[in-house]
Amino acid sequence: METMEEWIRRLPKAELHLHLEGTITPRTLVELSALKGEQASAMTLAEAEALYAYEDFTGFLQAFKAVVTELRGPAEYELAAWRMLEALAEQGVRHAEVYISVGVIFRLRPEEDRRDPELFARIFAALERARVRGERELGVTLYWIFDAVRHFTLDEAARVFRLAAAMRREHPSIVGIGLGGDERQAGSEPFRALYAEAAAAGLRLTNHAGETTGPEAIREALGIGSERLGHALSAERDAALMEELRRRQVPLELNPGSNVRTGVCPSREEHPLRRYFDAGLMVTVNSDDPAFFGATVADEYWLAHAVHGFTREELRRLAENSFRASFLPEVEKQRWLDQIGSC
Ligand code: ADE
Ligand code: ZN
Repeated sequence: METMEEWIRRLPKAELHLHLEGTITPRTLVELSALKGEQASAMTLAEAEALYAYEDFTGFLQAFKAVVTELRGPAEYELAAWRMLEALAEQGVRHAEVYISVGVIFRLRPEEDRRDPELFARIFAALERARVRGERELGVTLYWIFDAVRHFTLDEAARVFRLAAAMRREHPSIVGIGLGGDERQAGSEPFRALYAEAAAAGLRLTNHAGETTGPEAIREALGIGSERLGHALSAERDAALMEELRRRQVPLELNPGSNVRTGVCPSREEHPLRRYFDAGLMVTVNSDDPAFFGATVADEYWLAHAVHGFTREELRRLAENSFRASFLPEVEKQRWLDQIGSC
């Protein structure tokens, strides 16, 4: 008899809210530190684990940055992406749209960036090698989303988005842009012109909204043309907004485990996943930064069942939503929807 876990693994799923750097486990970090070749600089597992300690959302963002600091060049990024792809395949994730923290990369290394303007191109080429290999060997497709940090400067975000627009011509795997970071320090309105410019360049628009802030931040994100919203935790505090999200079927990239672990939601039981689903919103479940939060997207499906009582039919709907809300071409979406239907 197939268990629920086994069935969830077999169910084709897309992950739409996943930060590459947030998939790096302490074990992979040790492996990455050994790549440098100097034995003295290799980390112990305990040293790596210490980087992942945090108490609240602000602490989480600092820990995330500390992990990105350990990624020095193309070899580290390629291995990190490959380990991520292996983990996705293991869970039955067949397609993922993955944030790369391009804004953090540039902010962390101003000197190196000035000296070596091609560094990012080499890092991206390494990520592409992992992506192509993942598609060929594991059957997992990937799109990249270039993520800027909303509490850094507007110029830094402009650089990230324009780079995405320029590189996209050669690399159609770069499908969109997004804004992460601390919403309490910066909303969406300042990025209006940059979002319009990115859309005109053919990029799809995602945005973290209503994670640490109220429903007004979600309205603001919608107002600048964001097509997909990350977290949207506070939407239920505004009935008219809920109705708008339902009517427009705006895809929501929910991350219950992330929200509980960063302390922006008191418990899984109180997470609005079930209420949003029952209200007819276009919800997807995602893992955000699984190495920091301790739950994969397959775990999130299982917990939707165990904590929120999602039946197989309802989990199928979540999986269907994940492909519908993806940036895949319509024919690809349909192919996965057909497979889910017979799962
Ligand atoms: N960067 C990585 N994970 C994030 C999150 N959950 N919120 C904002 N920025 C992030
Ligand atoms: Zn996120």
